[in-house]
Amino acid sequence: MNVMLKPSSASEVLLPAADIPLESLDVSDPRLLETNTWPAYFKRLRDEDPVHYLPDSPFGAFWSITRFEDIQFVDSNFKLFSSEPVIVIGDRPDDMFLEMFIAMDPPKHDEQRRAVQSVVAPKNLAEMEDLIRQRVISILDGLPVGESFNWVDKVSIELTTQMLATLFDFPFEQRHKLTYWSDMATSSPEMTGGTSTKEEREEAMDQCAKAFVQLWHDKAARREAGEEQGFDLINLLQSNEDTKDMIERPLEFLGNIILLIVGGNDTTRNSISGGVHALNQFPEQYDKLRADTSLIPNMVSEIIRWQTPLAHMRRVANEDVELNGKTIKKGDKVVMWYLSGNRDERVIENPDQFQVDRKNARHHLSFGFGVHRCMGNRLAEMQLRILWEEIMQRFDRIEVVDEPQYIRSNFVKGYSELQVVVHPKK
Ligand code: HEM
Repeated sequence: MNVMLKPSSASEVLLPAADIPLESLDVSDPRLLETNTWPAYFKRLRDEDPVHYLPDSPFGAFWSITRFEDIQFVDSNFKLFSSEPVIVIGDRPDDMFLEMFIAMDPPKHDEQRRAVQSVVAPKNLAEMEDLIRQRVISILDGLPVGESFNWVDKVSIELTTQMLATLFDFPFEQRHKLTYWSDMATSSPEMTGGTSTKEEREEAMDQCAKAFVQLWHDKAARREAGEEQGFDLINLLQSNEDTKDMIERPLEFLGNIILLIVGGNDTTRNSISGGVHALNQFPEQYDKLRADTSLIPNMVSEIIRWQTPLAHMRRVANEDVELNGKTIKKGDKVVMWYLSGNRDERVIENPDQFQVDRKNARHHLSFGFGVHRCMGNRLAEMQLRILWEEIMQRFDRIEVVDEPQYIRSNFVKGYSELQVVVHPKK
């Protein structure tokens, strides 16, 4: 596999979607998200070829599934479509050999998920609510007033990083390492069109492994010494029959740690940024929200749909499958483009419109469907709800003052920069 990502067309410039022959339309090009030009490409596939085969791309041959209902079908059928060996479009380079339950099929998937999912059980979430609120308040109260700053760094990254440190009981003062490791894990050019190098990733994974092995042993020692254990993830893994010896299976251990770090990082981070951006693009919706803040929980679902922080998940067909008149062959790579399904006008009315009071707002694809449906979805919604409750108490407006900068990837749909000025309430 070529390490350098080839552009999809001969020229370096992205052509308008309408100018590209359908059979060579390549929606895996990571520049589509970076330049925010993706909507027209996916609309064309939805309308003209919803189950689309591209025989050649920097990520190999793949099928694109772009309509809401077809995506739901693929995602709900783990027997027809396998999540192994990886769930992103690109194949695994040699240095990424981690095992994680998002990329396992039942029954192994179910055992491992069961072991950790109580960390986000309703009781645990209720206990976390006060802590999240305190952290949100301290971040918001520390924001500069009257000058522009990058919302991505100061709020989106900071808040999600603090939450991750809490979930793992990771040393709080070292929490920024978690963000860095997560960024490294998702930015391989071969897998998602990202920009990290093999050396950077190896170094990061090595550091991450060492830190978590250390944390595991520290916590085990504290437990033996009789210290009362909280409901953090490491503790849950240590106290579960299926996973209590996971430390002896280092690849699986590190893989699941990385999964939980990535799961709770980019996704929530980019929803936090996406909400601010959406309200600025649709100021009448911001007015509606100011007039009625009880819309916040509904708006949170709408933000998650509109943003779609993970653009795709990939599967491999276990057998020949007929879908929308096409035959997907056993062994073919199938990519479910959530970002497209969430803009499918056949299922969602005015899908490009951000609407804080949208009916049935939770009916979106951003958390997936079926056995792999996002484990942290309630936690993510809670974080966003609390954030917006506290924002609306303090600020009349968070004003976006420059064009946002987006990440180059075909997997993480997000922002690297969102310059804002905050306007406190009078
Ligand atoms: C807005 C925020 C989030 C979004 C959009 C999101 C999205 C997703 C998606 C699309 C999947 C795969 C679903 C599928 O294949 O059908 C997933 C799985 C997962 N997510 Fe999230 N996620 C978010 C927040 C979180 C948080 C906060 C956590 C932390 C606990 C988390 C942990 C996981 C885990 C562990 C899985 C794997 C589940 C499995 O394979 O059974 N996610 N998420």
